[in-house]
Amino acid sequence: MASIKKQLTQYFCQALVDAFGVNFVEIDPLVSLASNPKFGDYQSNIALVLAKKLGKNPRDIAKKIIENLALEELGDPPTIAGPGFINIRLKITYLESQLKASRSNPNLDIGKTDYSQKIIVDFSSPNIAKEMHVGHLRSTIIGDCIARILEFRGHQVLRLNHVGDWGTQFGMLIAYLGEVYPDALTTADALDIEDLVTFYKQAKHRFDKDEDFKQNARNKVVKLQAGDEKTCRAWQLLCDQSRREFQSIYDRLDIRLTERGESFYNPFLEDIVKELDRKELLKEDAGAQCVFLDGFINKMGDPFPLIVQKSDGGYNYATSDLAALKYRIEEDQAERIIYVTDTGQANHFAQVFQVARKADIVPEQSEVIHVPFGLVKGEDGKKLKTRSGTTIKLRDLLDKAVGYARQDLSERLEKEQRKESREFIDNVSKVVGISAVKYADLSQNRISDYIFSYKKMLSLQGNTAPYMLYAYARIQSISREGKVDLQKLGEDTKIILKEDTEIDLGKYLLQVNDVIEEVERTLLPNRLCDYLYELSKKFNRFYENCPILKSEELLRTSRLLLCDLTARTLKLGLSLLGISVLERM
Ligand code: ARG
Repeated sequence: MASIKKQLTQYFCQALVDAFGVNFVEIDPLVSLASNPKFGDYQSNIALVLAKKLGKNPRDIAKKIIENLALEELGDPPTIAGPGFINIRLKITYLESQLKASRSNPNLDIGKTDYSQKIIVDFSSPNIAKEMHVGHLRSTIIGDCIARILEFRGHQVLRLNHVGDWGTQFGMLIAYLGEVYPDALTTADALDIEDLVTFYKQAKHRFDKDEDFKQNARNKVVKLQAGDEKTCRAWQLLCDQSRREFQSIYDRLDIRLTERGESFYNPFLEDIVKELDRKELLKEDAGAQCVFLDGFINKMGDPFPLIVQKSDGGYNYATSDLAALKYRIEEDQAERIIYVTDTGQANHFAQVFQVARKADIVPEQSEVIHVPFGLVKGEDGKKLKTRSGTTIKLRDLLDKAVGYARQDLSERLEKEQRKESREFIDNVSKVVGISAVKYADLSQNRISDYIFSYKKMLSLQGNTAPYMLYAYARIQSISREGKVDLQKLGEDTKIILKEDTEIDLGKYLLQVNDVIEEVERTLLPNRLCDYLYELSKKFNRFYENCPILKSEELLRTSRLLLCDLTARTLKLGLSLLGISVLERM
C-alpha cells in the first residue's frame, strides 16, 4: 500500500519550501505516526527542530508551515499542539480509496526501493565435521528473513554460506581417521555426521597430548594445501558428509543458500597478507604478523592486534574473512555486505572491518555490517542442552517442534470432534512446528538472548506463529462459510470504513509499507512480527464488533474486502519471515 508517511513527507517538504524558501528543500520534515491517537494519525516535530535554526518561536513556525500545507483529499486541516507539534488526521475517504487501490495490486502496492543495491548476506555458515548448533539455526533463520526482505524491496541479494571447511582441524581429522577408520577417507557415506563429530573430538584429544600425532596432522595440512590428490579427496568426502546433513536442515526450513566456504579463499590468503604488508599495516609480534588497530586494547591496557598470519606461517579465520571481503567487493561487486552471527563475534568483525578499511579493501561507499544476535537459552536460563546434558541436535529440535504441534492438533481435533485426513494432519503439524521455531526466533529483538520454549512458541495465544496462522485461516473460513471467493470480489465495490474497529484496522493495514521499509533499514525482523501480531489483534476486534456475512450489501462486500486485505497482508508478511500459511488448520 502506498506509504502514507511518504506522501505526507512530500506535502511537508513542499510546505517548507513555500514557507521558508528553496534552502529548505533538503530538510527531512520528520513525519511519524502520532504518539497519541487522540491528536491525530501522524505528526511532525519539525517546527521544534527549526526553531533554533530560524531563531523563532516554534509555534509560529508551525503556524507558517500549516498555512502552506495543502493536504487536499488526504487529511483534515492540520492542527498545532503543545509547543509546536503539527498533527494530521487522515480523511476517511482518503483511507478508503488507498485501501481499494492497494487491493488491485498483487503485492499490495508495497513500494520497491529507489536504490537497488548488490547485497551479500553471509549467514548460517556452520562448520564441517562439527554439529550445526542452535546459534547456526538463529543465523539461518534471521539471515534468511533479512535476505527475503531485501529481495522483496528489489535488491540483488547473494546469499552466502561461509562454511568452516578449511584449517588445521582437517589435518587432524584426516590423520586420525587414517589410523582408526581409513575407509572413511576413501568411501562416500562411510560415516554419518554423529560419527564424524565423535571422531573429531577424539582427534582433538590426541592432537592436544601426542606430539607425534600433532606432527602427522600438520603434514596432512601441508598435503591438503599442496593439493595432494588422496588427501584432497578425503577432505572432500568429509565435507560432503556434513553438507548432506546441513542440506537436510535447509530443506526442512525452506532455505536457499550458495555455499562458498573458507576453502574458497585459500588461494588468496598469501596475497592478502602481502597487500597488508605493501600498505605498511603489518607488524611482527611474537613471530606472528599482526595489524594493530585503533580502539582495541587487552586487559592490561596494551594495544591488541588482529593476527593475520600465525607464527607457524598458517592463516586464520581473520585472514580468510579479509580475503572474502576483497573478493566480495572486487568480484561480486557488492555494495553492502551483511554478516549474521552471534554477538560473540562482534569484535572479530569490528577488527576485520577496520583493517579492510585501512587497507582500502573496502572502499568508503561500500557498507559492511555485522548483524549480531544473542544466545539461545533453555527454560532454566542456561545454555540450551538435552536432558542428559549434551548439545541439542537441530534435527531433533525440529522433530520435537513438529511432534508437539501434532499433539496439540490431535487434542484440538478431538475436542472439536473433527475428522481430518492423514495428509492434512501431517502438513499442518509440519507447517505449525517449523513456523513456530522460526517465529519464536524472529519475534525477539535479535540482540537479546532468547529462551527456547516449545510450549510458548506453540501456544495459540500471544505473539506466536500459531496465533498468526490461525488469524489467517479464520479469514479463509469466513470466505468458505459465505461461499465467496475473496480474490474475485468486485473490483468496482467501494471500501467503506464505518465502525471504529474497522477504521482502526483500515488505518493499520496502510502502515505495512512503512514497516517493511523500517526492517529493510534496521535489519530488525521483530518489528515486522510486532506489526503482524498487532494487525491480527485489530482484525479480531473488528471481527468481534462488525458483522460481516450478516451485514447488508455494500457493507458486506466492503467488509469482505477488508478481510481479504488483512489475509493478504498477513500472508505476505509471514512469507517475508519465511513462513507459509495454511488455508485450514
Ligand atoms: N563458521 C563460523 C562459525 O561457526 C561463522 C562464519 C560467519 N561468517 C564469516 N564470514 N565469518 O562461527
